[in-house]
Amino acid sequence: MKSPIKRIAVNTGGGDAPGLNAVIQSVLIAAANRGWECYGIRDGFNGILFPERYAEGGVARLTRDKVRGIGHLGGTILGTTNKGNPLHFPIKMPDGSTREIDRSDEILTYFATHEIDALVSIGGDGSLTIAEALHRKGLRVVGVPKTIDNDLDQTYTTFGFDTAVGFATECLDRLHSTAESHQRVMVVEVMGRYAGWIALHAGIAGNAHAILMPEIPFNLDKVATKIRSRDADGRLYSIVLVAEGAQPSDGHRELLAPAEVGHAERLGGIGERIARDLAERTGKDTRVVVLGHLLRGGSPTAFDRLSALRFGAAAVRALDEGHTGIMVALGLTGVNHVALAEVAGRMKAVPLDCDTVQTGRDLGICFGD
Ligand code: F6P
Repeated sequence: MKSPIKRIAVNTGGGDAPGLNAVIQSVLIAAANRGWECYGIRDGFNGILFPERYAEGGVARLTRDKVRGIGHLGGTILGTTNKGNPLHFPIKMPDGSTREIDRSDEILTYFATHEIDALVSIGGDGSLTIAEALHRKGLRVVGVPKTIDNDLDQTYTTFGFDTAVGFATECLDRLHSTAESHQRVMVVEVMGRYAGWIALHAGIAGNAHAILMPEIPFNLDKVATKIRSRDADGRLYSIVLVAEGAQPSDGHRELLAPAEVGHAERLGGIGERIARDLAERTGKDTRVVVLGHLLRGGSPTAFDRLSALRFGAAAVRALDEGHTGIMVALGLTGVNHVALAEVAGRMKAVPLDCDTVQTGRDLGICFGD
């Protein structure tokens, strides 16, 4: 039987997503209402691994004053990082090469020394994989699913996704009128390294004429045919929405930087390539808009804010009930618990037989296949 909780810590890891601050707020208030102290770790685990970087402390006590009025703000008051995974921490060797070391014991030692009983870890696949490893080493941990990409397994959705889809949809709405006025092809690139959820949902909601995503390798001739057939019908403009991780069936993904020790690969540039190739194939005036990190900013939608608040409170409730090694997840009937081991290292791709893809096909949207 574990000792009752008196003190917890919370951190945010990986790319930021609208709703992080609402989770932090919810965790703090739910913890304070139980008489627990709550500490915020800066920049993933950097607050513990590099305390000297933080004049006010790498791990600081959170209070109601510190979280008042932050629920609607984008970003994270704790800071975040998608570099320097403590399990595979990159260090430079004297010969200039990079080697990985495991620094997770330093985190466990910090928790023990400071008598912090549990961690609420808010993050995507990378952060939750770290959380799962810390749990296996004996730390009490509850994960909260975050990512604008919605590619985390075992949860109906992650917070941040709805905001990203809403913004991308609004951008598509705006691009329709300018594309139509100039009779152009507009190619819009959105985030989505390995999964096309943002492209699919925004593309259908925003009436894109073609949607290209990582799950369906595309043939650009099919897209060009779609554009030509719209032209033949007198609809002289087209919108092509592409996820950064989409790839041609006979080609490769556009990589900006390969994966390095402690850092995932960076994608980008597929929009430019498609625009160039479509201009050649169709002879039409073509422009590219890369939404990129704009999708990560801004105020969370009410749906994301509510999910974030529910997740934060549910994480604290779970710890109070003695759970550990779990992620709070959104099921069809409410928040539930899934084992972190069922989430770590897994990716939720768009199922090609889902009704949303089917809807797109029924509406005549071209998926490039
Ligand atoms: O994982 C979320 C995400 O938005 C991906 O879609 C994208 O590839 C990545 O973050 C970019 O992250 P950054 O530019 O911050 O390294």
